[in-house]
Amino acid sequence: MTLVSDTTGFAWRCGISEVPVDSRLRQNGFKANDSVSIPFTTSPLNTQKSQPPDGGAKSGKQLSQQVLVVGSTGYIGKAVVRALVNRGHGVVAFARPRSGVGGTDDEEATRQALAGADVRFGQVTRLDSLLADGGRGESFHAVICCLASRTGGVADSWRIDHQATANAIAAARHLGARQFVLLSAICVQKPLLAFQKAKGKVEEELKASGLIWSIVRPTAFFKSLAAQVESVRRGCPYVMVGDGRQAACTPISEEDLAEYMADCLERPELQNRILPIGGPGPALTARQQGELLFSLLQRPPRFLRLPMALFDVVIQVFTALNRLAPGLEDTLEYARIGRYYATESMLVWDPQTNAYCADATPSTGTDTLKDFYKRILGEGLHGQNLGDQLLWNRWRKPQP
Ligand SMILES: NC(=O)c1ccc[n+]([C@@H]2O[C@H](COP(=O)([O-])OP(=O)(O)OC[C@H]3O[C@@H](n4cnc5c(N)ncnc54)[C@H](OP(=O)(O)O)[C@@H]3O)[C@@H](O)[C@H]2O)c1
Repeated sequence: MTLVSDTTGFAWRCGISEVPVDSRLRQNGFKANDSVSIPFTTSPLNTQKSQPPDGGAKSGKQLSQQVLVVGSTGYIGKAVVRALVNRGHGVVAFARPRSGVGGTDDEEATRQALAGADVRFGQVTRLDSLLADGGRGESFHAVICCLASRTGGVADSWRIDHQATANAIAAARHLGARQFVLLSAICVQKPLLAFQKAKGKVEEELKASGLIWSIVRPTAFFKSLAAQVESVRRGCPYVMVGDGRQAACTPISEEDLAEYMADCLERPELQNRILPIGGPGPALTARQQGELLFSLLQRPPRFLRLPMALFDVVIQVFTALNRLAPGLEDTLEYARIGRYYATESMLVWDPQTNAYCADATPSTGTDTLKDFYKRILGEGLHGQNLGDQLLWNRWRKPQP
C-alpha cells in the first residue's frame, strides 16, 4: 500500500482515505512530496531458536542490539559497522575471505578494517554459508544489508543485488531477527538498469517478508563525485556531459548515511518505509561540482564538454555488436549506466510535476561536498576507494 502526501503536507492520500500526517514524519525530514510505503506484514518464520529480547525496536529507545551486517566490507558497509560499534551494538560482520575492490584484503586486513566487530567469513551467495558461518546458530535482533554488485554488470547485479540480498532476508528470518535495513538507491524509483531492477525486486520481497523493514535509498555518495578531483588538481579540465546542468544531486557522506542507517534500528518513524535520503543541500549539478572544485583550487573553471550523443552512439554500436556476437552485455550495460547518471538526477521524482525535486528530497547529516573536496585536495583520496566508480574498473571480472 503506497501512501503519497498531498502538496500541502497535511494529509497522506491512501486509496480512498486521508490520514493525518504524523508530525514525527515531518520532524524527521519528510516533506510534502515524499513517497512512503507501508506493507501489510505477516509473521516472521517460526524458528526454534529463542527470540532475542526487544532491543528497543518497539520502544524506540537506544539499547544494545545484536546486528548482522552483510556487505560489511563495502564503502557504506564499513561505515555502518563503525557506527554500530560506536553505538555499543554487538556487531557480526559477514565477509568473504578475500574482500575489497579486486579482492585485495585478506582475512586479517578485513578484521582490522572492521575493528570492534566479530568478523566471520563465508559466502553470502549461499544461504547455508550465511547461516552456518555467519549466524552460527545465534539469534540476532536485526540484519543490515549493504551488499551491491561491485561492477553493476547484468548477471552480477542479479546475483548480488537480488539473490544474495534475498539470502540475507531469508537468513534474517531463520536467525530470529525482527528487523532488516536495506541499502538501496534513489534511482530505483526510475528503474532502467539491471541493478535497479534487481534491487526493486528484492525491495518488494523484503516488504512482503514479515520483517520490520527500512529501505534506505540514498542519493549520490561522495566517492561518486570524487573521480575527477585528482585530474583537475593536476591541471586537467573538468569533464562533463552536455552543459553539465542536466542532472543534480544532494550528495551524502558515508558517515552521515551510516548514522542514518543505524538510526533505522532505533527510530520507529524510519521503519516500514522507503526512505529517500540525501546529505545537507543544496542540490548540485555536475557543472556546479566542477565550479566548486575550481573555486577551492583558486583557478578559473575549465570544462571539457562531451556530447550526449556519444553515449547514444556507443549504446547503438554495442547493441548491434552484441546481437552479432553475444557477450558484450555488460559493456553495453556500462554505457547505459554512464548515460543514466549523466541525464537523471539523484533526487526524488515528483510524479505530479514530472520532474526531479530537490525540495522533496529529505536530507540528513552535516558533511558537505565542499568540506569533502577541501579534505581530499589536501590529504588525497585516502579511505575513498573509488573502486567501480572508475569506469575502467568495471571491466574487472567479479570475484567468484
Ligand atoms: N555510488 C553511489 O553514489 C550510490 C548512491 C546511492 C546508492 N548507491 C547504492 O549503494 C550500493 C553500493 O554501496 P557501496 O558503494 O558501499 O558498495 P561497495 O563498496 O561496492 O560494496 C559492495 C559490498 O558488497 C559485497 N559484495 C559484492 N559482490 C559480492 C560477492 N560476489 N560476494 C560477496 N560479497 C559481495 C562487497 O564485498 P567484497 O568487499 O568482498 O567485494 C562489499 O561488501 C549500491 O547498491 C548502489 O546502488 C550508490
